[in-house]
Amino acid sequence: SPLEVSVPWPLANIPSLHAGLSRLEYRGYDSAGMVIDGDKEGQVFTYKEVGKVAKLEQLIKDEKPDLDATFVSHAGISHTRWATHGKPSRVNCHPHRSDVDSQFTVVHNGIITNYKELKAFLEGKGFVFETETDTECIAKLAKYIYDQHDDIDFTTLAKSIIKELEGAFGLLIKSVHYPHEVIAARKGSPLVVGVKSARKLKVDFVDVEFSDSPNSVLSAELASQNVALKKLETSTLAPPDKSLLHRSQSRAFLSDDGMPVPTEFFLSSDPSAIVEHTKKVLYLEDDDIAHIHEGQLNIHRAGKGEGVSHIRSIQTLELELQEIMKGKFEHFMQKEIFEQPESVVNTMRGRLDVENKKVTLGGLRQYLSTIRRCRRIIFIACGTSYHSCMAVRGIFEELTEIPIAVELASDFLDRQAPVFRDDTCVFVSQSGETADSLLALRYCLERGALTVGIVNVVGSAISLLTHCGVHVNAGPEIGVASTKAYTSQYIALVMFALSLSEDRASKIQRHHDIIEGLGKLSEQISHILEKDSEIKELCHKFFKNQKSLLLLGRGNQFATALEGALKIKEISYLHCEAVMSGELKHGVLALVDENLPIIMILTRDDIFRKSLNAYQQVVARGGRPIVICNEGDEEFANEKCEKIQVPKTVDCLQGLLNVIPLQLIAYWLAIAENLNVDFPRNLAKSVTVE
Ligand code: F6R
Repeated sequence: SPLEVSVPWPLANIPSLHAGLSRLEYRGYDSAGMVIDGDKEGQVFTYKEVGKVAKLEQLIKDEKPDLDATFVSHAGISHTRWATHGKPSRVNCHPHRSDVDSQFTVVHNGIITNYKELKAFLEGKGFVFETETDTECIAKLAKYIYDQHDDIDFTTLAKSIIKELEGAFGLLIKSVHYPHEVIAARKGSPLVVGVKSARKLKVDFVDVEFSDSPNSVLSAELASQNVALKKLETSTLAPPDKSLLHRSQSRAFLSDDGMPVPTEFFLSSDPSAIVEHTKKVLYLEDDDIAHIHEGQLNIHRAGKGEGVSHIRSIQTLELELQEIMKGKFEHFMQKEIFEQPESVVNTMRGRLDVENKKVTLGGLRQYLSTIRRCRRIIFIACGTSYHSCMAVRGIFEELTEIPIAVELASDFLDRQAPVFRDDTCVFVSQSGETADSLLALRYCLERGALTVGIVNVVGSAISLLTHCGVHVNAGPEIGVASTKAYTSQYIALVMFALSLSEDRASKIQRHHDIIEGLGKLSEQISHILEKDSEIKELCHKFFKNQKSLLLLGRGNQFATALEGALKIKEISYLHCEAVMSGELKHGVLALVDENLPIIMILTRDDIFRKSLNAYQQVVARGGRPIVICNEGDEEFANEKCEKIQVPKTVDCLQGLLNVIPLQLIAYWLAIAENLNVDFPRNLAKSVTVE
């Protein structure tokens, strides 16, 4: 779940924290909380509420009517949660505190895997835990270390805390002992810093401070207690490094005349919370500790700096505010479905030259010859991203003649599947932060494989950690159910297959056909979207009060069936099972009668005749399926089925068109049940836990 902070200098207000949280809500929405500096030194206000951000907003209004839009606070941290440890409740909601006085408060994304050991240690020191979360141990650890060394500066304290944490985190720490300051630290979970200045900034990068001092207070003590932590051998706290303080000053933000300028900082797990304030951002890297203090940002490293760049450049976000707003649409999911004619073009822009029949993927160019020689290509992903890999398996096999495996990241790791140096492992992810995929990526890197990222979110962990890759450029996807990212991933992967096989004379005609097909996709998708009301009506007629439905496909269209079934399940909560048509007769046919709703994907391809067998088996048992078929196909008599007709394209691209009616079906089924399409129950956009 996400976190967001606004550390204004000189001042900002609660609504900016609310607005940021609302932008992040799609990533987790079972509870929300906020801590802000009070109007007296050493005072903080904490608010927490179960449910959506709007409820938190109401709570603040009710509890503290004087804290309205005019109230200003130097620093605040806030969070919307998607429960991992502990049920959604006020007490489990972030920020978490060190003690009843909230001397230290923390918001955290990710998971602390050694929290049980830390908790036992801290309980032994008299700390009383009040929540079921792993995060609470961070706040309590902060207080414990502070109490041992109360002249410790905030950065040194943060380094000592980070040293003891295992797992993944993007976290923010605030303390009454360091008023108006905030620490941000990341390892495996994204954090972006927005920089907003009253005047033009002179700097275009921040120089990172590397520290070789061990900075661990706890470790020696933990060692004597025999607590099972990995870093026991590290020594005790080093005195604060004066040169570090001096160099920090030189990193103040300067204007053209060399004078420091008042600067506000916005920290978030996602740029969408920042873009309305500033487009100037820098991305923190793993083991970075950012300290925001009196209008300055200083970045330090938690460990030694081997192999890590010391520059964090200030970049300009390409994100536009309207991209993360619903505009004329009711829901983000609906908007994103309707954006596809445009998003598919964005994926191909500058890469596909239809006229000269050429594909250029800059991010892969240097690696293509190595990949061509690899022993196999393993695609690794989760959920919808896994389906996009399934959708292109056939065309990869056909064009490259390299053995292809498609793996669910979690299962791949469970099996500790063999990976070799001459394998190419392709990680497909919208967010680029999915924990299972990220862990699988690290697993493959450790084994020396070449890794490729096919990712939507720029600057995400998967895009940073892979050797090479392609950004799918679908634009921000806010709806929890992935739609435009799927079609863009699919296209990026097809272009990848084309690039790999560009030197094969025997495939030239096939290449030309596919490139031509890609060039027509946008228009064809627009044409299908015109059937929106027809599809809405169909849903009303056929699926009302149903409990279950089957979705049948074969060959390339099995992936489409899997993806359609996932969409229907996740937002309409209707049980929907994707069945490989060839398997129908091996068992599932027993479910079929005149009442069970069935959708069959029956567009024309080489195996169309075989797919028809399943259709006949269903019709013979009194079933009246909804058939997704090509426009003008005479095969399907009106009295036996309902039809959704789609334009014809090259077989390996047909899934890109067939999935559109399924996305619309999922949408309208959910609307008919009055469900919240953008926030399906129990789900979150980025699944950053295993
Ligand atoms: C379904 C959906 C999920 C994600 C999955 C992987 O609509 O969005 O199944 O596809 O959680 O997420 P990414 O692609 O971010 O790795």
